[in-house]
Amino acid sequence: MKQKVVEILQRFTTEVIEEQMIEVPTYAHLGDYALPCFPFAKKMRKSPKLIAEELAGLIQDANVERAEAVNGYVNIFMKRSGFAQSVMNTILYEANQYGSSNVGGGGVVTIDMSSPNIAKPFSMGHLRSTVIGNSIALLLEKSGFHPVKINYLGDWGTQFGKLLVAYRLWGNEKQVQESPIKTLLALYIRFHEEAERNESLNDQGRAAFKSLEDGHPEALALWKWFRTESLKEFQKIYDVLGVSFDSYKGEAYYNDKMDAIVEELQQKNLLVESDGALVVDVGEHLPPCLIKKSDGATLYATRDITAAIDRHKTHQFVKSLYVVGNEQSLHFVQLKTVLNKMGYEWADTLQHIPFGLILKDGKKLSTRKGKIVLLEEVLNEAIQLAEATIDEKNPNLMNKKEVAKAIGVGAIIFSDLKQHRKHDIEFDLKKMLQTEGETGPYVQYSYARACSILRKAGAVDEFTIEEVNDHEWEIIKCLEQFPAIVKRTATELDPSLMAKYAVELAQAFNSFYGNVQIVTQSNLMNYRVSLVQSVVIVLEESLRLLGIKAPKEM
Ligand code: ARG
Repeated sequence: MKQKVVEILQRFTTEVIEEQMIEVPTYAHLGDYALPCFPFAKKMRKSPKLIAEELAGLIQDANVERAEAVNGYVNIFMKRSGFAQSVMNTILYEANQYGSSNVGGGGVVTIDMSSPNIAKPFSMGHLRSTVIGNSIALLLEKSGFHPVKINYLGDWGTQFGKLLVAYRLWGNEKQVQESPIKTLLALYIRFHEEAERNESLNDQGRAAFKSLEDGHPEALALWKWFRTESLKEFQKIYDVLGVSFDSYKGEAYYNDKMDAIVEELQQKNLLVESDGALVVDVGEHLPPCLIKKSDGATLYATRDITAAIDRHKTHQFVKSLYVVGNEQSLHFVQLKTVLNKMGYEWADTLQHIPFGLILKDGKKLSTRKGKIVLLEEVLNEAIQLAEATIDEKNPNLMNKKEVAKAIGVGAIIFSDLKQHRKHDIEFDLKKMLQTEGETGPYVQYSYARACSILRKAGAVDEFTIEEVNDHEWEIIKCLEQFPAIVKRTATELDPSLMAKYAVELAQAFNSFYGNVQIVTQSNLMNYRVSLVQSVVIVLEESLRLLGIKAPKEM
């Protein structure tokens, strides 16, 4: 619609009007759109006030109700009924395809996301990576890209040598099966404690990792078993969150592919020796990128370089995203620089999507010693709290368990996505489960309320719009924004725009619901129920794009 406003305005002035000049006034009495005339004053040698008055006097268009000049702004009021009719017709016709586009042209975007570490707890950071990555994938898909979700498991590294030693010394098969992460973590912690007193443990750990890298069958079998058990436990979390992956190729997958890459680095004259280790120089301002330790062991960076090259070969991506916490920014700058130095032009399409911490009472939620926050428990608590609310408000609800899960999990996802990802977020279960304010449950309740109106109203006939009141108008303007929001989220890779949008639409709908009689005499009712139907379509799609379920009854 902004584009249309631009076209209209352009017919009446020789100055160049651009879309970003058009503002949307905060107050409805200042019009639906406004053009500030200050930028033209210098060139036109006239006061903005005068420019606005002259321009407003000229504007005439079938879509424009009136144009007014106020303090150097041209305020434009659209003809509501025609605008509303066209927005609603589009939504009702396109249904969940509303806002879809083919901007992406089918281009592949790999998304490195979630990527927890085997034998370690699934942290709050991994939760953020999972839900942010998932929403970005959905938004990209809506814009015609082909997302490939990669769970780059942390399943390789010297820590597995230590774990092997610890398990052989103190481990118990049954305990691992019953509670893999807890047990393996306890073994790992014990290893570190005992190694403080017993130096030789570290040597044993290194030797064990070496045997793993050399493919020693017994070591490999144990490692495989730890991996399978850990994955089973992670899978429970993914099931609750409703997230799936296209690939689980983790760090270990690249074990036998790194030699070739180190060789390539060598041939391209990029390796430098430093204290017996091999590094790549990445410029004066950055620490060098460590490729091989003096004992020959490879590193996190070595595996990421190898994985990036493999991903490009496999997927020919147009973009390669890494949804990983702020604290790894340096690593990704190094990664990109090394690939660039290797001559890979596509390295420029690598993009780190950083995010902040989850805090509790202002402090970092940590997984160090004793203080483990087990995500599964947090998710269950959220679901139970949601269930308690249902028992109180709507005890006869069908599928209570399923709805409670949708609300509890939705609340956590929403609170994560509603702020720009770069910010740290405060984790407050009670707050995120409230049905008022900017929460997931608030949007879900609004959606369920709209669904219940549709059930009561039954099928409605075609309608013509005679008049659009202020409450309806707010909804229409919001609905019209949806495709533009989808486009922006996909270019800015920022799900928070969609979360904020969902809240705005829910608010517009609720004030309409509270002030306007929906079920009334025929033509008006057909129109208003169809408006509710349009809201249902767009709210449901907004929630889906965030990775949140929308129960029809709550
Ligand atoms: N496993 C790592 C961690 O938990 C995250 C991996 C991120 N992805 C990557 N390609 N480096 O910190």
